[in-house]
Amino acid sequence: MVERVTKEELASEFEVDGLLKELTLAEKSILVSGADRWRTVAIPRLNIPSIMVADGPHGLRKEEETGDLAMGKGIPATCFPPAATLANSWDPELAAEVGKAIGREALEQGVSVVLGPGVNIKRSPLCGRNFEYFSEDPFLTASLATGWVKGIQGVGVGACLKHFAANSQEAWRMLNDSLVDERALREIYLAAFEKVIKEAQPWSVMAAYNKLNGTYCCEHPKLLTDILRREWGFQGLVVSDWGAVDDPVLSIRAGLDLEMPSSYGFNVDQIKKDLESGRLTQVALNRAVRNVLTLVDKACSTKLDGYTYDRQKHHDLARRAAAQSAVLLKNEGDILPLKQGQAIAVIGQFAQHPRYQGVGSSQVNPTQLDTFLDELTERDIAFNYARGYSLESDEVNPALLDEACIIAEGSEVVVIFAGLTGSYESEGFDRYHLELPEAHNELIRRVAEVNDNVVVVLAGGSPVTMPWLDQVRGVLHTYLAGQAGAGAVVDILYGQVNPSGKLAETYPLKLEDCPAHGFFASDRYQTEYRESIFVGYRYYDTAERDVLFPFGFGLSYTQFEYSNLTLSAERIKDSDTLAVSCTVKNIGKRSGAEIVQLYLGKKESPLFRAVRELKGFKKIWLEPGEEKTVRFELGGSAFAYFNVEIQDWHVEEGEYQVCIGSSARELPLQAAVVVETSRPEVVVPDYRESAPTYYNLKTEGLPWEKSAFEAIYGRKIIKVRPAGEYHPNSTLGDLQKTRLGRLIVNILRREMRKFTPAAPDNDPLWRMMWTIVLDTPLRAFPGLSGGMVSPPMLQGLVAWANGHPIQALKLWLDLRL
Ligand code: BGC
Repeated sequence: MVERVTKEELASEFEVDGLLKELTLAEKSILVSGADRWRTVAIPRLNIPSIMVADGPHGLRKEEETGDLAMGKGIPATCFPPAATLANSWDPELAAEVGKAIGREALEQGVSVVLGPGVNIKRSPLCGRNFEYFSEDPFLTASLATGWVKGIQGVGVGACLKHFAANSQEAWRMLNDSLVDERALREIYLAAFEKVIKEAQPWSVMAAYNKLNGTYCCEHPKLLTDILRREWGFQGLVVSDWGAVDDPVLSIRAGLDLEMPSSYGFNVDQIKKDLESGRLTQVALNRAVRNVLTLVDKACSTKLDGYTYDRQKHHDLARRAAAQSAVLLKNEGDILPLKQGQAIAVIGQFAQHPRYQGVGSSQVNPTQLDTFLDELTERDIAFNYARGYSLESDEVNPALLDEACIIAEGSEVVVIFAGLTGSYESEGFDRYHLELPEAHNELIRRVAEVNDNVVVVLAGGSPVTMPWLDQVRGVLHTYLAGQAGAGAVVDILYGQVNPSGKLAETYPLKLEDCPAHGFFASDRYQTEYRESIFVGYRYYDTAERDVLFPFGFGLSYTQFEYSNLTLSAERIKDSDTLAVSCTVKNIGKRSGAEIVQLYLGKKESPLFRAVRELKGFKKIWLEPGEEKTVRFELGGSAFAYFNVEIQDWHVEEGEYQVCIGSSARELPLQAAVVVETSRPEVVVPDYRESAPTYYNLKTEGLPWEKSAFEAIYGRKIIKVRPAGEYHPNSTLGDLQKTRLGRLIVNILRREMRKFTPAAPDNDPLWRMMWTIVLDTPLRAFPGLSGGMVSPPMLQGLVAWANGHPIQALKLWLDLRL
């Protein structure tokens, strides 16, 4: 049980407004940036303590304090399944349990805020960080994230909703400008943030690295103040992503409260000067300081010395979460569940060395790590094992293939563990294709030639192609299953658990089918979100494209029958609530859970629309033969679109289709309802003439014409490039073109290599760290280097690189005076 200090007790010690009056300008200026990488600044004179934040979100990553530049290893913590996995459970209560458990681990470690959840929408399956995000759909994303935030904050630890906003790729993440039309922004990219903020009031929000429509997210008044605070009523703190601040004063003015990591005092003079000149107001600075103090206040009220959590319980929860999130994609002739006593061959190194989380700042150092082979042994299940592929290389290894085929031939059933290796899914860079490593594809093909009973257990946090799908009888997709995933896989394969996970994203047939194709990470400085609202199934289903697996798809060992769709009315006002119900019956022989999904669509409209959108879901448990009535309530907001003219949500009058079923493509129950609008005077935007392609997605290939995008974007797209060859937004990678740059990069590489001496160049962690270093703009180095590098040093470097050695020397010499 968490015990809190009462508000009254606290008020006597910590009174934010009073403190604000007593703080000096210098103190205020240092409070709006961190004390170091993970802490806020303490002001002992006024008894203002420092609080600590740490990474998440699928487990606590509190760095061991190494003080070096490399990403420190975290203290051991439970590695739960990452968001991409948990999303397949479609279970906000489970997400809340996970959030709560991570909160307990944070309490033990004295961490006040965990940096998560990430609610960015999966615009393209290529984004390297998709494993940290829930879904391509904002409603599903928000439902799960709301559960997670309520869970963690319920034990008195703050959440930090990130990365705000339209942060959809890793390539050039600190330089790139996401050009998104406002309707797509509101309905897709901001929608999840909006719902979580309104329903769960996270303690903090993290402003993203990228620019949004021309302005850095950290400097975006419309985003950070008009929308976040004024429109949505956000009460908490806005923190920058680590190193995201370009101009500290513009950021404070826009609504940013805390720059992380520390700016090591480099901004203090600037803040003072700008206050004097009027570029910054006391009001804005005080707002930021007040929000920092309020966060400290909240955090201190739940400080629990000596708190410990139950490691075994958390491990068990991680296992349950993995079991609820695995998705059965194929089960031909009921090859699964396996029968006890069947002669089984287990092939693939992931059975011994599981792929269970992605690479980057979210990487948890697990308290334990279960393996499939150990789990089988523990249950006395006999098996033959072959490695199948090397973990070091994607290349086909003929000797390992032969070994695999030999054991496969003599077995009744073969379970192959395959998937994406760590080097495919990482913060800092994106994937280039949707293929599995060739060694894995070839292994499955070859083994399937010698044995007809192949089941593939797939690992990976993002869609892949499955060229061998027709050759195998079963596919269980575990996604990235966390530290206890292996036990969950055994439970499902042997039928102790009936799988119930459903895909939270579409699996396309090929990369070229993806709606963002050609417009994902294609330009260093600007990314046009040409597909607008047609993200994921909104595109595939409207365009009627064939897919490998649709959104919401997942099999069970039992079957469910849908019937009796009932609407409370045939006609409603947009202020009414429509009650929808249906009956779902388990018509199979096993008990199991079904995720019942409700989608809404509108056929006739001057507005371009997705054929249907997810607006509700319920997970129900049914015994064989049992049936249940499933109820949904749809308020007016479920029918609303964002009207850019009136800058508000609006319900268009007319007939809507209510569709219920087991996936976006399996919707046996359909009915119509007419909705009357309370704002008939509002004109529904009509782009049929200016942007016809958005109404006609069924054409061959992707239709996104520039002129059509400009029409819905509301202005011409102008290519913007920084002035000068080298500038503060040049990266260390850019500087390698100069001799001095190469020298610096070599020294840095040598120093950083000291922390990972044994890792080869393609080691996922090393590759991630080094890519980030090369891709980081110079202006972020003072903070990220722990203050070792100062802004004048970098200004000198820029001057030198631009061929102004005298200016550079002057800047560097001034440093020494
Ligand atoms: C990531 C954030 C993370 C932060 C602190 C950044 O690079 O984008 O998600 O919370 O680092 O590690």
